[in-house]
Amino acid sequence: MLLTKLAVILTAGAFLASAINLGEYGKKAYGAVKRSLPDSETIKPRQNTVACPAVWTAVASELSTLFLNTTDSLCIDDARAAIRAAFRDCGAWNITSPGGCDGSLILAADELTRPENNGLQAYGAKILAITQKYQAIDSSITAADMIQFASSVTIVTCPLGPRVKTYVGRNDSSIPAVKGHLPNANASAASLIALFAQKGINAAEIIAFIGAHSSSKQFFVNETLAGAPQDSTPGEWDVDFYAETISKPTGVFVFDSDASLAVDPRTSATFSGFVGKQKKWDGAFIAAMTKLSLLGVPEGSANLIDCTSMVPTTRPVPRDVKRATFQ
Ligand code: HEM
Ligand SMILES: *[C@@H]1O[C@H](CO)[C@@H](O)[C@H](O)[C@H]1NC(C)=O
Ligand SMILES: *[C@@H]1O[C@H](CO)[C@@H](O)[C@H](O)[C@H]1NC(C)=O
Ligand SMILES: *[C@@H]1O[C@H](CO)[C@@H](O)[C@H](O)[C@H]1NC(C)=O
Ligand SMILES: *[C@@H]1O[C@H](CO)[C@@H](O)[C@H](O)[C@H]1NC(C)=O
Ligand SMILES: *[C@@H]1O[C@H](CO)[C@@H](O)[C@H](O)[C@H]1NC(C)=O
Repeated sequence: MLLTKLAVILTAGAFLASAINLGEYGKKAYGAVKRSLPDSETIKPRQNTVACPAVWTAVASELSTLFLNTTDSLCIDDARAAIRAAFRDCGAWNITSPGGCDGSLILAADELTRPENNGLQAYGAKILAITQKYQAIDSSITAADMIQFASSVTIVTCPLGPRVKTYVGRNDSSIPAVKGHLPNANASAASLIALFAQKGINAAEIIAFIGAHSSSKQFFVNETLAGAPQDSTPGEWDVDFYAETISKPTGVFVFDSDASLAVDPRTSATFSGFVGKQKKWDGAFIAAMTKLSLLGVPEGSANLIDCTSMVPTTRPVPRDVKRATFQ
């Protein structure tokens, strides 16, 4: 009896919530409905009722093969660039500046060619062509969405990579991002914490998403050592980066910025807390990366469509890959 009554309230609540989202009720009515519902009830955001456009299935399929080395089943150099590009498009923003995740990385005349984006130019041209190809099929596709979607597909293409929440519906802009909002490899933990605070991102979130350097290689910090990875397994999405930044093996190139985050009293405990903890990192990374993928998007995901189900699922490490610390 009580359960039936609860179900009626919940159904009515969900119905009203979708009506409110359609603008038929004012803020006051919304508050009244919310108060009348049990605390545990969450009014479902609108995106859950809008299906992901079918075209993204084809995009996911094309991108999955593009980023995978079919010989060794690891992720390739274009994959690393795809993940970095997602950060560079969104990250060049702060809470009082325009821009954010708006495709300007590949749409603006001079953003991709900035020295700070060195290494992303070839990938930028490829993903712009792919954007245009699928725009001809479905005009709702934006470069901003394609950059984030490609990053999500890439992350799962790297063995162990988790499925990040993936939304579409962002607007594009060809106005270049404000300069000076992206960090470089010389940045101290203090300057990184201050810089990301201007984007509404805290120290723990920095430590969670910096683990993306698990898959990275440097080409321009020291050009003599071009191709040097930031952990010993750059073809995989694992937590070796955390251990190997703290204690660097031969051949691994540690950025000063990462080394500083590993030892700063505000971040060192979070940093060492991910050593050997793949599952713990997955959860923290997904949350931080989702936040990053919405920087500068008005109202965050509220007006976007959830396309996470189009992203393939996590792949295991190929059996013939020798791993020192597999969990
Ligand atoms: C704390 C801020 C960060 C700093 C200072 C930083 C710095 C750098 C630097 C200097 C490189 C090497 C570029 C080169 O020489 O080719 C690099 C590469 C890379 N970064 Fe970051 N990064 C930061 C945050 C991030 C975030 C948030 C992500 C993704 C979520 C990311 C993903 C990558 C990837 C995947 C690469 C490899 C690119 C390639 O191999 O082509 N980084 N980063
Ligand atoms: C793919 O993997 C093979 C074997 O490790 C390697 O020789 C080749 O260079 C890789 N190709 C790419 C595009 O990374
Ligand atoms: C996209 O732009 C339109 C027109 O300016 C605006 O109404 C809408 O809120 C924007 N959507 C997002 C997700 O930024
Ligand atoms: C980082 O510091 C080194 C040495 O001080 C300097 O040569 C280099 O230009 C700096 N890099 C950036 C991107 O500021
Ligand atoms: C955002 O960036 C602009 C331009 O670089 C700067 O003037 C402003 O102070 C920054 N806003 C915040 C909140 O730091
Ligand atoms: C780059 O690496 C080489 C080889 O380890 C080293 O000799 C050189 O000093 C490094 N250059 C910079 C700018 O750090």
